[in-house]
Amino acid sequence: MEFQQLTGPALAAQTDLLAFVVFGDPSKDAFFRAADAAVGGALSAAAKGERFEGKALQTLSVATSGQPFRRLTVVGAGTRSAFSLTDLRELSAAIAAGANRVGAQSVALLLPSLGSGKERLLAQHAVEGVLLGAYKFDRYLTGEAAKQAPSLTSFGLLLDAKGKKPTAAQSRAITAGTERAVVVAHAVNHARNLVNEPAGVMTPTAMAAEATALAKKYPKQLTATILGPKECAKLGMGMFLAVGQGSDQEARLIHLTYKPATKKKGAKKIAIIGKGVTFDSGGYSLKPSDSMMGMKVDMAGSAAVVCAMEALAMLGCDHEVHAIAACCENLVSGKAYKLGDVLTSMDGTTVEINNTDAEGRLTLGDAITYARTKVEPDEIFDFATLTGACMVALGPYTAGVFSDHERLARDWMAAADRSGEDMWRMPLNGRLREQLKSPIADMRNTGERWGGAITAGLFLKTFAKDTPWVHVDIAGPADTSNPRPGQPKGGTGFAVATLVEYLAKA
Ligand code: BES
Ligand code: MN
Ligand code: ZN
Repeated sequence: MEFQQLTGPALAAQTDLLAFVVFGDPSKDAFFRAADAAVGGALSAAAKGERFEGKALQTLSVATSGQPFRRLTVVGAGTRSAFSLTDLRELSAAIAAGANRVGAQSVALLLPSLGSGKERLLAQHAVEGVLLGAYKFDRYLTGEAAKQAPSLTSFGLLLDAKGKKPTAAQSRAITAGTERAVVVAHAVNHARNLVNEPAGVMTPTAMAAEATALAKKYPKQLTATILGPKECAKLGMGMFLAVGQGSDQEARLIHLTYKPATKKKGAKKIAIIGKGVTFDSGGYSLKPSDSMMGMKVDMAGSAAVVCAMEALAMLGCDHEVHAIAACCENLVSGKAYKLGDVLTSMDGTTVEINNTDAEGRLTLGDAITYARTKVEPDEIFDFATLTGACMVALGPYTAGVFSDHERLARDWMAAADRSGEDMWRMPLNGRLREQLKSPIADMRNTGERWGGAITAGLFLKTFAKDTPWVHVDIAGPADTSNPRPGQPKGGTGFAVATLVEYLAKA
């Protein structure tokens, strides 16, 4: 796919499909009226016939004749005040999908105005929408339909309806936004692939191979260190290894490092940790079949941190970034860990297991200790499909953000706002620690029913200690069964975009 900045009046664009956006009632939109006049009233007639009211993602498309554009498409964007970057992404994904449906090879999109200074984000999200919408996980489909290539190859961006020349700064912002989008979408789609691969394929060793391959592709920026069970045992990672010990697939600790070419003043060391349970059966606290279905998603956090590293290698980052993923499978067997077992974690804390299905916090706890003691980072972020409770609280589309570090939490939420990923700050109520008391060990791994996402967060906090730390529970948004434009069924690559927004050079 080629992206370009187009200049000149929108109604003079030489393209297969000219698309624009209206906020609500089209008759109140000046460009709608101008476009309608250009096509002899065909647009308003179609709008009337199809009851087009400019509601979010409502689409109207007419073929034209004798115009530089062969088709004219209007997409509704709802109310302007509620319009978000997520909406823009979905809108451009829907336009690209519509273009492919009618066999268009080129699209020119007249970008809606978000106010001055927003050009970078405007271009970035429009282009991301196109590339995220083009994603398909079809390598296991053998039918003919799966092999059909999309028609769309060229996507143009127009900033001004009347063709007012963009300033040099605007032009640069659009180019930068476009380039960034290509990198972000590539990383997001890569993460989607890793999540969508069956657990039988995307094993801990396969995850490690992904990290090693990235380090090989970017030898100047990235280095990969992979630890096996023996090395992890030497480090005393008793919680991580216990979770993986029931599987014939060996556990792997992935440590992928990005180092900036030159050390800038104020540069930080940042650890990004992902939950990497490549399959979660629940262990002896076995999940019922319906809940176990889909548990290949349980490595989505590790996919996000590993894949975000490629974007950092491509875009550059002022900070030293360490992606860490403790990857293993949570299975049942004669070797599996049991209820009532007492584990010793890497930092020496002992943990009584009262539920083998609360395995994520065990793997992450040791990964956090590894990061804290081996990397000594200024900031730790972790991403984990950690609790169903977080989905009960926030629904399936929103991630829960837990932190007792106000500044870091605020900075992270601001990045999520710019990336257009749906995240919500949750309380980390210390009183709930009482639920993690054990009569025979320093703590137990599972609390009671109420506040399950919070007790999971408090468990992790034990290991982060005083290092500024943010925990992001992505159990809901890591995959989806309700597709949206730009987001097909399956893995979503959630958190990659915000990681890149937070870490990469502006
Ligand atoms: N991987 C699951 C959480 C999950 C649930 C992810 C649904 C994606 C969708 C996690 O390991 C788990 O099993 N959590 C338990 C914790 C409980 C035993 C305290 C849960 O949420 O039920
Ligand atoms: Mn589990
Ligand atoms: Zn799990």
